[in-house]
Amino acid sequence: MSGLYLTGIGHLTTNDGEPVTDAAVIIDDGVVVYAGPAVGAPERSDLEFVDCGGRAVIPGFVDAHTHLVFAGDRAGEFSRRLAGETYQSIAAGGGGIMATVEATRATGEEELFELASGRVARMIAAGTTSLEIKSGYGLDVDTEIRLLRVARRVGEELGITVRTTFLGAHTTPHGRDRHRYVDLVTDEMLPAVRGVADYCDVFVDDGAFTVDEARRILITAAGLGMAARVHAEQLSHSGGAALAAEIGAVSADHLDHATAEDAAALAAAGVVAVLLPGASYALRGPQAPGPMLWEAGCVVALATDCNPGTSYIESMGLVVSLAVVEMGLTVDQALWAATRGGALALGLDDHGVLRPGSVGDLVVLDAPTPDHVPYRPATNLAWATVVGGRVAHRV
Ligand code: NIG
Ligand code: FE
Repeated sequence: MSGLYLTGIGHLTTNDGEPVTDAAVIIDDGVVVYAGPAVGAPERSDLEFVDCGGRAVIPGFVDAHTHLVFAGDRAGEFSRRLAGETYQSIAAGGGGIMATVEATRATGEEELFELASGRVARMIAAGTTSLEIKSGYGLDVDTEIRLLRVARRVGEELGITVRTTFLGAHTTPHGRDRHRYVDLVTDEMLPAVRGVADYCDVFVDDGAFTVDEARRILITAAGLGMAARVHAEQLSHSGGAALAAEIGAVSADHLDHATAEDAAALAAAGVVAVLLPGASYALRGPQAPGPMLWEAGCVVALATDCNPGTSYIESMGLVVSLAVVEMGLTVDQALWAATRGGALALGLDDHGVLRPGSVGDLVVLDAPTPDHVPYRPATNLAWATVVGGRVAHRV
């Protein structure tokens, strides 16, 4: 572990009180020991000094929803959608999730690791300091375990916090009976992924899985120690959000078609609303009602949904910009949701905040204030990314 003394911070966002101008952050042994005004900061000569030159500092981005372990290429689907085909019709014709499943099954663990760690390295270089990674492109016992092992190894080798989610119920493999497949998920896959998956997720939607199937899978998972997340109300209103509230899921994700009733139920049950504006953007679909969910009292998180079908996006900065411009969150709400909200969605209470005792994960932005993040969406503003007090990326 390393010690870092950041000086010359023009604008510090801590997510623990008001922003501070002329600030300093001290990280010792990976943990924040001071985050506040430079005047009055403790003197330490034993740490590495970084002069931020008036730049802004924010907590590291916490990307709470990704599907980034996959092989193959679906750029052609993107063009086909632009020409008028729908996500659902492409999937029904053999493309979509199953196209990625076929390519992923045919790819060994080492190559999957190389592909995934390349994506995560680019994410770190763009300010992401912890993330969630789902399986869901194996859909058989062996490949699902392989994907989760790769996800864990990415975290270990790149030195960032990774939480893993088993998404065996992503779609039903071709030629299989859906009811039998749900049995396979509950009876064989779930016991097998115990120990490599922190959470279990189900895609609840038309053409994916029903509320009753998801309930059965997620309750079985809970019995094995995996808390629930739900792909809910993405392509249609299917009842996934109400289910998430009913079973006390950790998060309900997407929510593009969520209603005011859903929002009230999620807020009352303490389910984090993980919003994925990149998927709505790429599908030219409706954005989730972020302001409505926020006003209803939901904890809101923003994530990339990084996947080869609906959102091949690695940049949390772009996600923040879409959330502001397309979804209507305020800049402060979106930055909070992309940092502290993501941490809360992953049960990482010491992440997404800069205060004594929190993890030393932050981004030094090459800008005087953090509103430059949504304002300049195509520029990587991460001048330095610090993970656990270690400079993991530096321009
Ligand atoms: O979050 N909704 C389902 N799963 C992914 C898309 C997966 C794919 O198309 O490969 C999503 O959008
Ligand atoms: Fe997703």
